[in-house]
Amino acid sequence: MQHDRWGLALTTDVPEAARQFDATLDGLLAFHTDTGLALKAALTADPQMALAHCTAGCFLKMFGSRAADERARKSLAKAQEAAKGASERERRHVAALAAWCDDDWPAAIAAWDDILALHPHDVLALKLAHYLIFYRGDSAGMRDSTARVLPRWSKDVPGYGYVLGCHAFGLEESGDFAAAERTGREATAINPADIWATHAVAHVMEMQDRADEGIAWIDRHTGEWTKINFFTGHVWWHMALFRLERGEIDAALALYDAHVWAEPSDQYLDICNAASLLWRIEESGGSVGSRWQALLPKVEPRLADTVLPFADAHYAMALVGAGRIAEAQALAARLKAVATPDARLAHAVSLAAVEALVAVGRGDAAWACKRLLQVRPLFVALGGSHAQRDIFERTLVACALRAGRKDVAGRLVDERLRRRPANLWARRVTAALAA
Ligand SMILES: [Fe+2]
Repeated sequence: MQHDRWGLALTTDVPEAARQFDATLDGLLAFHTDTGLALKAALTADPQMALAHCTAGCFLKMFGSRAADERARKSLAKAQEAAKGASERERRHVAALAAWCDDDWPAAIAAWDDILALHPHDVLALKLAHYLIFYRGDSAGMRDSTARVLPRWSKDVPGYGYVLGCHAFGLEESGDFAAAERTGREATAINPADIWATHAVAHVMEMQDRADEGIAWIDRHTGEWTKINFFTGHVWWHMALFRLERGEIDAALALYDAHVWAEPSDQYLDICNAASLLWRIEESGGSVGSRWQALLPKVEPRLADTVLPFADAHYAMALVGAGRIAEAQALAARLKAVATPDARLAHAVSLAAVEALVAVGRGDAAWACKRLLQVRPLFVALGGSHAQRDIFERTLVACALRAGRKDVAGRLVDERLRRRPANLWARRVTAALAA
């Protein structure tokens, strides 16, 4: 038996396996590029380590693809075999992965929460719960899952700043912007390279339309990202949103080329960032050239996944952007067919979004407007952040304008300006309506 940095028992007799598992958890907290390598090294040191197999399965699930899901099931089988002699905590982790592999997200989240009740320093359970609650669109749940463990954390516990960073993001998504910014700044003061905390504060600035501050805030942290993985692309996406808010279309395109889609990527988040940014640039009146076409080779292999409703809606965006309307329609047909009981709502909203995007592609803005209006109160079920889902709200307003429904567009931007009086995009729409 070995122990991790937090004193939690690891069922392995190999000190190197425990050491590499610690490095894996550090990497998970900090979004390090070498996280997967550390996990591989742990499994090389001890091929029977149940929690390492289980973690490998969870990392594969985070790819959000059917191909990776199949590999995750293999890791699950190995973890289940190895877990026969493992601790109760480790067996609960394996049960959470089993639930995740069965697409039973609530059961997986509940299993991690049970672990955290007994072991509030289990950062693996904490981070995995944070991830899946995010894709359920459960803002308060994200905030509360970290709130429940924070009383058991302090500066003396390793990784404390990263837990604050997670909590900051939950606070932001549930609308407590002041507490989110305070907590996120505290986290980045502890770990200046904590990109999740940096990102949480950037979200506050996005929601409060503080574009100038947002640009300066991200600028100040990019130098810290020497070991950070692909998640940097998402924070660059935020930077591009700030630029677009200021009307700087060329700057947003330059960020797209340099950071958001500098290299073709298999990560669904990179694809979502890219599709969402190109869509916003076009909506702002910019021209994206052949960039939609360049995205397609990475989108096409994902069309049969239907694992993450949030990602599916973005794949449809890329298809419609590239003029592949029939393929977007085929994706809508596939979405109609998938519906596990719990995921039904998310898939239904994703289906509505995809159908609306298809209508946009066919030039039927009136129908797209009608479809988006129907599901607008349910956008949150798609998962992702408010800033990410905002693209559907903006598309709805754009469709209303194109369809001659000035009444609809006007009321939507009035509502938005009441919430976000400094929002330049909404002011531009209002000015256009008045003209
Ligand atoms: Fe974000």
